[in-house]
Amino acid sequence: MIDDDGYFGEQVAKRYDASTDSEFRPEVVARTVDFLADLAERPELAGGAGAVEFGIGTGRIALPLAERGVPVHGIELSRAMVAELRAKPGGEAIGVTIGDFATARADGGPFSLAVLVFNTIMNLPTQERQVACFRNAAAHLAPGGCFVIEVMVPELRKIPLGQNIVPFATGPTTYAYTVYDTVTQDATCHYINLAADGRAESRSIPFRYVWPAELDLMAQLAGLRLRERWGGWAREPFTEASRQHVSVWEKPVE
Ligand SMILES: C[S@@+](CC[C@H](N)C(=O)[O-])C[C@H]1O[C@@H](n2cnc3c(N)ncnc32)[C@H](O)[C@@H]1O
Repeated sequence: MIDDDGYFGEQVAKRYDASTDSEFRPEVVARTVDFLADLAERPELAGGAGAVEFGIGTGRIALPLAERGVPVHGIELSRAMVAELRAKPGGEAIGVTIGDFATARADGGPFSLAVLVFNTIMNLPTQERQVACFRNAAAHLAPGGCFVIEVMVPELRKIPLGQNIVPFATGPTTYAYTVYDTVTQDATCHYINLAADGRAESRSIPFRYVWPAELDLMAQLAGLRLRERWGGWAREPFTEASRQHVSVWEKPVE
């Protein structure tokens, strides 16, 4: 169900950091932070002007990035996710603007980095809002600054002709699958969890999947140009077998 906190209301926020997803493993967080800190501290950015994280959530990345000495400001729709961030050591020191990262403006810019990780670009459910997000990222950046996105490669190759469902968790107590509309690029993830008493709880999140080439066009519309594209945070090559990409677009120095 959607409320003022979007699809990340209190119940989701409370459980968010207990996820078993690989994104929460310490080594994955460390690789992410290393990549972002290196980019933020490039000498040509004259000491760096910090980062703005779109959809900062509970600070999974923002807190360790701030600990590395990169000041971070967040934009976040969900007050419940921000409450979880605030409850962590260092969380009170992170500035957060409550709003939609497609349009809201963070204090403290211009920034060296705008960051949008963990598939969150897909949480904007229309092409128009995804384009607006690129324009908003560009508006937050200093010349030479970079917009970094981490997002999955759409999994359409897993769908046999005539079908539209990809399961991605199959029990024993969690079933999860995505239903794709390959005409509109709309999709919805459905999660069904079984409690110990046998009761089922379900949650559905709509998203818009998006290809790397379409993201490059959105960047171009926003006046940004592709600087790097990797298959992961350890700078693995991006190939036809990559399941995700980390893409970096730069705001040109006039
Ligand atoms: C998958 S979580 C990622 C959180 C954090 N960046 C991380 O990597 O753990 C997505 C976050 O983006 C927020 N979000 C989704 N759409 C948003 C929007 N349009 N504007 C601001 N925040 C949004 C959600 O509330 C949620 O906290």
